[in-house]
This record gives sequence, structure tokens and C-alpha cells, in this order.
Amino acid sequence: MTRDTAGADDRLGPDGGDDGLRPDGGADATGPDEVALDPWGASTVADYRSLFEEFGIAEFDDVLGGVPSPHYLMRRGVIFGHRDYRPVAEAMRHDEPFAALSGFMPTGDPHIGHKLVFDELVWHQRRGGDVYGLIADLEAHAARGLPWDEIDAHAESYLLSLVALGFDLEAGEVYRQSTNEAVQDLAFELGTKANVSELGAIYDFDGETEVAHMQSVLTQMADILYPQLDEPKPTVIPVGPDQDPHVRLARDLAGRMRYFKVTEAYASFELEPDERAVVARAYEALADADDGASGDDADDGDDADHADDDAEDGIVRCVEAAEWLEAESPDMPGLWDAVEKLRAGGTEPLRPRVRFMARNATDEAFEALISAVDGEKRVYEGHVDAFELDRAAAEELAREVEVATGGYGFRPPSSIYNRFMTGLTGGKMSSSVPASHISLLDDPEAGYEKVTAATTGGRETAEKQRELGGEPDDCPVYELYAYLLAADDDDFAARVYEECATGERLCGDCKEQAAELMAAFLEDHQEKREEAREVVADADVTLESDRR
Ligand code: TRP
Ligand code: SF4
Repeated sequence: MTRDTAGADDRLGPDGGDDGLRPDGGADATGPDEVALDPWGASTVADYRSLFEEFGIAEFDDVLGGVPSPHYLMRRGVIFGHRDYRPVAEAMRHDEPFAALSGFMPTGDPHIGHKLVFDELVWHQRRGGDVYGLIADLEAHAARGLPWDEIDAHAESYLLSLVALGFDLEAGEVYRQSTNEAVQDLAFELGTKANVSELGAIYDFDGETEVAHMQSVLTQMADILYPQLDEPKPTVIPVGPDQDPHVRLARDLAGRMRYFKVTEAYASFELEPDERAVVARAYEALADADDGASGDDADDGDDADHADDDAEDGIVRCVEAAEWLEAESPDMPGLWDAVEKLRAGGTEPLRPRVRFMARNATDEAFEALISAVDGEKRVYEGHVDAFELDRAAAEELAREVEVATGGYGFRPPSSIYNRFMTGLTGGKMSSSVPASHISLLDDPEAGYEKVTAATTGGRETAEKQRELGGEPDDCPVYELYAYLLAADDDDFAARVYEECATGERLCGDCKEQAAELMAAFLEDHQEKREEAREVVADADVTLESDRR
């Protein structure tokens, strides 16, 4: 996740401090509904809540309890959202394989916004994950028009900061998109599963969009799935919410590459998800009724009546379900389409089952799947139904067979989203406004000055501040404490918040303390960057490209 260059600047920050952080880590999202998620444009998030409602991003708090010793960015609500992080947390808890990967466009110097993601990668690495950091040089060239010499100049700098912040180059992997052949091969392959109108709809591309820009999207898709080339595993992509469109597409493409699609069915014909819910409703009602009936009617010896037999056996026929639905008319979407299909099904019995639809499977893979299904099964053209497997077991089996017969078996990648930082000058943090952000390469002295010059959530006068308290939720300086300066010390972060809110803390001293901490951090970080030089030079990553 990179937020550099003029074009990308706008997505650096939320617009002002509408969204505060609570010292307890709770996300205090308020403000107008205004969200745009554009990876290359002006992503601003005025209301993080609407990301949950409109885009289906889940609240990180929902999974926090399942994360072993969560990172302070998680505890403080800086990491506020996720998609499907549960499998990653679970793998972490059970010491099973998992991965984390993020990418950085080398368009400028790394800054404190990047540090959040660097820290998240390092944290996942320390939790035992396979961790990848990549330089998105193809994207920087294609989507930002950056020349290769500038890209080279910045690429190394990102790696130095990543390593200085604790990334272990031996345990993990760093690469450049432009020199990773496996990534480019995978990107090509993924391109067989996406079309131009789809990319247009997601990214607002049109006829004028450069082909290389589109290619860079496929490259990012390949980056995201790259950790699973050896074997499928839960993978988290830590990024800013502006990258969510990429994550969603990658999740889709991961599915489209799969050999088999596992669904639930009730009869030989296909059902749309709405219709499936309708049929499930009818099936449950009738099967329950039959259970009762077979108890009452047991041993009445009347074998002549077919319907009674069915009832005793718990058999529900399609047409019965259709009739029940017509009579009940439950208020459900897809009702009449389901009824039509059930009518056409006639006397075929309804029986819940899982279905493996062959999508990209070779004949060999399909055969292998058929023999791998235990228990009662029925084989059709292009799909096989299994009556004694539950959904989860079926998913597992489909993946095993796919991997054993030469497929990738990708799991849909997960993501976590961190908040954008507010600019030190208020408004957005922007790389093109040096005073608004702190570069990891800033002189400690310059960092110190920027912090002391920052806007605050303080009152006009010290007197008022003592009386009313400051507004840490609207204060970029408080953000610095919460996101960076307090590091792992929650008590310290909470103390700053409390003291500010109660008027005990005044901005002058508060900024002085923050500025000193910032200067110390920069000094230490830059020392570590120097120490990292050698390791980075020895790493298996091209620092100068032959491209022109
Ligand atoms: N598109 C990202 C950005 O704008 C960079 C990137 C490339 C990336 N590949 C990635 C991020 C894979 C996460 C995962 O900065
Ligand atoms: Fe911000 Fe500190 Fe002032 Fe509070 S006291 S408003 S945290 S600078």
C-alpha cells in the first residue's frame, strides 16, 4: 500500500479528524457518509462505518478476540476492518501455515504511513507466517508513469526501512514485480479469468486506459496469490482500505481458478442462492411434518398409499414442495422461480447434498474427485453429488484433489485495513506537502520541527483547555502517539488521551514530548537502516533494473 506522488496524495488521509481513536482501541466513527475507494485516485474516508455497510468490510473487533496477543495497531482500532481474517488468526493459533504479503509503489520516500504496513508484515512474520514484501515497480511505471531510474532510487529505500523495522530477510521474501517471473506468469494466467468490462466496472477504466495499467492490476492479483503457489494457505494482505477493490477482485479470481465449485443442492437441477433458500424452507417444513407423520402412522400396514410410504421414509418430492410453497407463499425472493423448477422436477425426491461442479477441472481431476468422494454419490455430466459429506468436508476434498491433480487450490485471500493518517497540518496527509507527513528519511531535527508545528485538537487558550479539555479524537498529534510513538505501551497511549480530554495536558508540552519521541524514533530508525544496508545488498532482489 503506497500513498505517494501527487496523484495518490489525496487518499493519504481522512478529511480531518472526524474519526477519532479511543484509547481503548474502539473505533469512534462519526461524520458524513462519504466514501470512495479508488486505488489510484482520491480515496478519502470520512466515515469508516460506511465501509462496513456499503462495501461489506467487516469490523476488526469481531475477530480481535481470536488473535493471539494482537498488535497494538489492532488493539487501538488503527486496524479497523478486515475481510475473512478468521482463517489467518486460526492458523496462527494452531501453528499452521499462513502467509502475509503487501506491496509498495516506489514513488517517493517511505513515510510513517508505510510504517504501519511494514509493522504489520513484521508482526505476522514473528507470529510464524511466510511473509512477503514487494516493490510494485510495474504498477508505479504503468499507473503513475514513473521512470525506471526513479523507481530504482526508491525501491531500495523501502526495503531498508522494512528491514530496519524488523523484517527478517532470511525467513521472508522481498521481490520486485518486474523481476519475478512466477508472478508475471501467474498474472498472465489470471488474465484468462478477467475481462475488460469487468476491470472497467471495478476501476472506472475506459477505452483510453492504457493496457499496461490493466496489466498492473493482474500483476497485483498475482502478487496477492503468489504466497499460495507452493500450497494453498490462509494469506492476509495488510493494506489501506483504498486497496479493497483489488482484494475483492483477487478473492473472485482465486475462486475462478478453482477446479471445482462446491455448492449445496436438493435435487438434480441447479438452484440460484435465493431459490436454494426457498427450497430449503419447503424441504425442512415437509421433512419435519413427515417425521411427525411417520411416528403417528407407523405400522398401519397400508402399503397401497404411495404418499404415506413417502411420508414414512421421509421422502419429500419436488412437486409436494412446489405445492406447499404455493399454498404458504412465504415472502422470500426467488419463490416463484423455485416453484417453477420444483414443478419441473416432478416426482424426483428432494434430498440435501453437496455438489461438486467441475469448472476448470481436467478429466483426470474429475475422475480423481469421483473416486475420492466417500459414501453415496451420484455422477452427472459435469458434476457429482455427494450425500454423505458436509459442506466443509467437501470444500476440503475439492482442494485436496485439485492440488493432487496439478491445480493451485487457492484459498480466497484475506485482508486487514488500517486507517489513513491525518496530516500534521490538518486535513489529508500528503506526500507532496512535506509538512503534512513525516518521511522515514526526515532528519530527526526536521521531524521534531514538524511535530511542534502540527495542528492540534486543543482549545484557543490554555485556560479554556484546562476547563474543557482538548479533543484528542481530532488531533493529529494524538494520532502520532496512538499509531507510532506509544508503540506497545497501551497505558501510555491511554494516559495521553485521558490527560488531554480532562484538560490536564496542554498542547505545548504534549507536542514537545511527541516531537522528542519522534526525533528519537527517526534517529534510531535511520541507524537501523544503515545497519540493514548490507543485508539488503546481499538479498536476492535486484536493486537496479535494466529497464529503460
Ligand atoms: N497497489 C498497491 C499500492 O497502491 C501496491 C501493491 C502491488 C500491492 N501489489 C500489491 C499491495 C499486493 C498489496 C498487495 O500501493
Ligand atoms: Fe493533541 Fe496533545 Fe493538545 Fe491533546 S494536548 S489536543 S493530544 S496536542
